[in-house]
Amino acid sequence: MFGFRSTPPPSYGADAVVTGAGSGIGRAFAIELARRGGRVVCADISLERAQETVRLLAVRGYAVQCDVADRSQVEDLALFAELEFGGAPTVVINNAGVGIGGQPVGSIGFDNWNWALGINLWGVIHGCETFVPQLLAAGRGGVINVASAAGFAAAPTMGPYNVGKAGVMSLSETLAAELSGTGVRVSVLCPTFVKTNVAVDGRIAAKSSQLAQNLMRWTGFSPERVAVGTLDAFDKGRLYVVPQLDAKAIWLAKRLTPALYARGAGLLNRLMPDEPAPHSQLQSASTTGK
Ligand SMILES: NC(=O)c1ccc[n+]([C@@H]2O[C@H](COP(=O)([O-])OP(=O)(O)OC[C@H]3O[C@@H](n4cnc5c(N)ncnc54)[C@H](O)[C@@H]3O)[C@@H](O)[C@H]2O)c1
Repeated sequence: MFGFRSTPPPSYGADAVVTGAGSGIGRAFAIELARRGGRVVCADISLERAQETVRLLAVRGYAVQCDVADRSQVEDLALFAELEFGGAPTVVINNAGVGIGGQPVGSIGFDNWNWALGINLWGVIHGCETFVPQLLAAGRGGVINVASAAGFAAAPTMGPYNVGKAGVMSLSETLAAELSGTGVRVSVLCPTFVKTNVAVDGRIAAKSSQLAQNLMRWTGFSPERVAVGTLDAFDKGRLYVVPQLDAKAIWLAKRLTPALYARGAGLLNRLMPDEPAPHSQLQSASTTGK
């Protein structure tokens, strides 16, 4: 008899690597992947946070200390995963990221640019350069890169964040074309607000941090909802994952009327109260600051 054996979607039973898995969206990805029967390497700059996540997993997980801004640490992470899994991972989620905002271009400071782009952009570049060859050799699975709605619609006083996330979108779009027909897929997640620590940790000036935390509280999705929706979209082979209605509306406005979008963002910026702190006083998190 001819039997029909369907292959499970890639997020089920996956051997997964998640960066920034010690909190928020990364932790929710790790928990959901484990719930779907996978094994998860939980990487974070804070080993303690990664270990906390592993304790929450339904199945076997591994905690690894890894600063994604450091290429050699990402390469070590790939070696660790390959050894534990006995081969290439199925799913790699380049999620680690930090918040930065509250100061306009010209007063941000190069240290802050380097710090934010080192994690938010180079971290994802390190992840893609290191893991994509492994995935291609295996000919299955894929990458989920975590960008932001800021990647397609720049908000004022968030220069380094916008630039990093736009880079992650562009990298993901490049990959999507390059991976076409290989059996390896890529999705890029572009949320607006998700209820996590991103506005508290990181380098966000006081008023902007407060505003972001309020918007997160009022309009934010839970990280669990975002993780489930993103993995489902990844399984369907969707490149863009734009989970929230406000993100979809911003996407549309930016695409249809880009100049009007820029004028609207400028008007909003003029209505915002000024941040008193110069760039040197941007708040710095204990675990992620350098
Ligand atoms: N929360 C939101 O509203 C929101 C919206 C859009 C995009 N995002 C993106 O989602 C991703 C996850 O952020 P989150 O909201 O869960 O924040 P979070 O602060 O709750 O979690 C981020 C995790 O990344 C880790 N991390 C920080 N620097 C690192 C580094 N150099 N190497 C490895 N790990 C590092 C932190 O220790 C933390 O555990 C980020 O890329 C963020 O930019 C978040």
